[in-house]
Amino acid sequence: MKKFKIITIDGPASSGKTTLAKMIAQKLNIPLLESGALYRLVTYLLIKSGKIVKANIENKEILIKFLKEIFKEIKIELTPVGTNIYWNGKLIKEELKEKEVESTVSQVSAIKEVREFLTELMRGLAKDKSLVSEGRDMGSFVFPYADIKIFLTADEKIRVQRRFKEKLERENYKGKDLYEDVLNNIKLRDELDSQREVAPLIIPEGAYVIDTSYLTPEEVSNEILKIIK
Ligand code: DC
Repeated sequence: MKKFKIITIDGPASSGKTTLAKMIAQKLNIPLLESGALYRLVTYLLIKSGKIVKANIENKEILIKFLKEIFKEIKIELTPVGTNIYWNGKLIKEELKEKEVESTVSQVSAIKEVREFLTELMRGLAKDKSLVSEGRDMGSFVFPYADIKIFLTADEKIRVQRRFKEKLERENYKGKDLYEDVLNNIKLRDELDSQREVAPLIIPEGAYVIDTSYLTPEEVSNEILKIIK
């Protein structure tokens, strides 16, 4: 029997990946790799450094050099309750949910070099340990050899309602986003994520597909735990 187990949870925005991945990681008491946080981190770092300017993004050599350099200042900690990211010792969390990051992340995550860089980083993080990893391409691309692959899905309307509720509940939410904004953002991200050339959002081979539209997180969690057993 293999010593370490990898469980992947893929799916579109607001399909329940993060919530479920957290529940499963805590139940099994193994680390959780939130890949979206890493794509958000790269986006945030590019915005912060002014490198989101088109000309610079198009210069892939500068981009790779920039990522290699700046990641020397980054520490990633995987715990059963989530992925903690430190930049020069400072925890970066709320920053990753900023509006500018949210509206740019699909564009950044479509860049081949960014995906290659983060894929290598994630495989390194997963080395010699069991973990739950969640994202858009965990079972299909980053960990195709995963022991258990789950693909979560939900109706678009329900995903928009979930994301909107989450925004309203956020402490520093200023109430400027309209329901329409959330709808458009989800639609656009779905389109970009599933149509990009590199590692598009697909159902991984051998994945168990669960529609979470009308299920509670507990019901989905029980189903996943049943599959794992
Ligand atoms: O899961 P999330 O909303 O935090 O992800 C943010 C963005 O990162 C999402 O729009 C697509 C991208 N992403 C990706 O391309 N591949 C992943 N494995 C995870 C996230």
